[in-house]
Order: sequence, then structure tokens, then C-alpha cells
Amino acid sequence: MSDLPLSDRAGWAADGAISTLMAQAIENPDCLSLAAGFVDPATLPVELVRAAAADVLAEPRANLLLQYGTPAGAGRLRIEVLERFATLEGVPTEELAATKGLTAGRVLLTNGSQQFLSLIAQVLLNPGDICLVAGPTYFVMLGTLAGVGARAVRVETDGDGMVPAGLERALDRFEQAGELARVKLVYLVPDFENPSGVVLSQERRTAILELLERRDPGGRIHVLEDAAYRELSFDGAPSASLWGRDPGDRVIYAGTFSKSFAPGLRIGYGIAPRALVQPLIDRKGNEDFGSAHFNQHLLAKVLESGKYDAHVEEVRDGYRRKCDVLLAALDEHLGGLPGVSWRTPAGGLYVWATLPEGVSTSFGSPLAEAAQHEGVMYVPGELCFAPESADGSPRPAHDMRLSFGVLDAAGLREAAARLGRAVRSVL
Ligand SMILES: Cc1ncc(COP(=O)(O)O)c(C=O)c1O
Repeated sequence: MSDLPLSDRAGWAADGAISTLMAQAIENPDCLSLAAGFVDPATLPVELVRAAAADVLAEPRANLLLQYGTPAGAGRLRIEVLERFATLEGVPTEELAATKGLTAGRVLLTNGSQQFLSLIAQVLLNPGDICLVAGPTYFVMLGTLAGVGARAVRVETDGDGMVPAGLERALDRFEQAGELARVKLVYLVPDFENPSGVVLSQERRTAILELLERRDPGGRIHVLEDAAYRELSFDGAPSASLWGRDPGDRVIYAGTFSKSFAPGLRIGYGIAPRALVQPLIDRKGNEDFGSAHFNQHLLAKVLESGKYDAHVEEVRDGYRRKCDVLLAALDEHLGGLPGVSWRTPAGGLYVWATLPEGVSTSFGSPLAEAAQHEGVMYVPGELCFAPESADGSPRPAHDMRLSFGVLDAAGLREAAARLGRAVRSVL
């Protein structure tokens, strides 16, 4: 350890979980990873990108694509993103402009949606402020919240997502403790949540917004809707967003082209409430002078070409098939074991598996060691639960996130067999 007097923020950002997982993967190259949340390398659109790169570079003034852009991003892609978003919403762009005041000027292009999530945390949360989250939720976001000194507090969650009555009880608890003013954000991943695969039910989307309207009519508590997996439904039907049913400017929407297209381009976007647009741009300007300008034009070209939809269709099909393979292999190798269960997702990249309560899946547990010995990796469920809960419930430590993103069908079958042996050895 160095004695360098680092800032408080540097300490808040320290998070060993990812490093531990990466180190495990590097130390055990023969290990099959059900842990990595990466997309399937076989789906990465080399030919589409090659053609789009050649096409944009053949455009007049192509040299300027290699120039700096602006912090908010290239207008050309912001317009395409707005059109794509309107398609997902099932509403023409003109109607979004008329009814919601949404124009391309409110679409911000970021370095992956991760940067947008981080910018939101930075512009909305002071140290000690509270963000309410589902349990489990996207564990990287827990790190992002910790990184700004915020408190992530877990709200009761079940197979239909965050429980509205649990959210209300959380607000009551903070009100009684005189801390309601510190609650600034509710973070939700409504579609095929990373890690649980859960879809926040349509009724709950409405109920959560109605509850917030009733308890916080001024719209001080924002909802951050992280729609990273929205396009990855196995049946192809996009769900109706929280954003679309927001009567005001409460919901902030984060989207990404990482899961549906290529994470290596690092293109995500945010649709911000009017009052947040400039603060976000200012903050982003402090961090970079804009995200990769060339990549934005390249992606705009792909979207303009009309070839994006067919690609997403293929990606979805591929994940549906791989999910079926993993589920069948789990049935074969873990089926019928007492207290062992898993959820069948309707999209996304993850299967959430639960072991009997006393059987820890955490780093250093007998199961983690058995899995390492067998040569298979998973994400310990504990990492995905904020340590603090609104109802005082303990942090569960007996689940696993299994991803069917990276491995091919044979790899998934073998990984499930290894996991089955590891689990049987500790039950
Ligand atoms: C729920 C969720 N949100 C956001 C992200 C960030 O992705 P990106 O920065 O590549 O858009 C991820 C990546 O795994 C995710 O799972």
C-alpha cells in the first residue's frame, strides 16, 4: 500500500470484486466462465462495421470524423438514436416532441451507458445521499454509487422486480428517520435485469411511478431506468418503458448499443430530463471532450443503412438458443437437488440460480473453491445485493449469476456439468 494521501473519492471507488473475478479468469485459463457478462463474440458484427467504416470514410470531409467531437455527441447519431428510441417506444418522433418535448438535443451520447450512469450519480448525488435499488441489482452500479459516496439501499424485490409496497415502506422508514430529503434516486433495470433476468412487471412500473408521484409530487426523487437489455427479449417484443409513462420529468433513461451491437465501440446514451441536460454536458466536458467521434459516425452509418434490425434479430435468436442450452444442462446436472432452483429468463444474458440458504456461494466459500477446482466460474450473488437494506433483511449469499453470453453451446453444457459436480460436493 502506498502512503499517498489519496482523495476520499479514490477510497470510495476501491472495489475488489471485478479484480478478483478477472484474476481468477487469468490464473485459470482452462476455466469455463459463466461469470463474464460479455456478449457472444460470435455475434460481433465485423462485416457490418467493416462496410460502415469504409462508407463513412468515403464521405466528403471524412477527415473531420477523426477530429474532436462535442461532449454531447455527434448530431447525426443523436438523431438516429432518437428514431431508434421512438421505435422502441412505439411512437413517432414527432409525437415524442409534441407530447414529451423530446428532441435530439436531450439525447446524450456517452462512453457506454456506464458513463451515463456514472454522470447521473455525479450530478444528482452528494456523499451520504441515498439511491434505492432492487435486490439483487447490477453490481457495477453499486460500485458507481459507492464511488460518489452515496448509500445504495436495497428494497424488497421478488420475481416481478422491485415491490412497490416495499418501496413505500422504505420511504416511510427514511421519513421517520428524518432522512427522506437524502433519497434522490431509484435505480431500476426493468428488462431482464442483470443479474436476475427478472422483468419489472408492467403493473409495477405504473405502481412505482404512481407511488412516487403521490409521495414526491415535486419530482425531486428521480428514477434511473437502465434499459441495457431492452432489445434482447427472446420474443422480440420491446416492453413499455417507465419513461413512456412518466407524466413529468422524473424518469431518466439509459440505453446502450453494447448488448445489441458491439461493446467495443463504447456507445451508450442517455435521455435526460430538461433540467439535467446542461449539468450532464458540463460534467462530461470535465471528463472528456466527448466520446469517440469516429465510432459515433460509424454507428450512425449502420443505423442509416437499415441493417441494424436484422442484426439484433440474429443476436436475440442466438441468445434464446444458448439460454435453452444452459437451462437444459442445468436441469440435467442440478435438477432435483433439494433447495436448488433457477429462474427461466425471457431475455437478456443471465440465469439466476439459488442454492439452499446455508450454502454460501461467496468468494472463499467451499462452493467457490470446489468450482475453481472443477474449472468453472460464476458471479457470487452476494456482490449483487447492496449491503444495506430498507427492511433490515440480511444480505443473501447463496445465489449465483450464470451468464450464457460468452460460451458456445458445448462450453455451456460442460460448464453446467462442472458446476453440477461442484454444487453436489458441498450439499
Ligand atoms: C444493467 C447494465 N447497465 C449498464 C451496463 C453498461 O454497459 P455499457 O457501458 O457497455 O453500455 C451493463 C453492462 O454489463 C449492464 O449490465
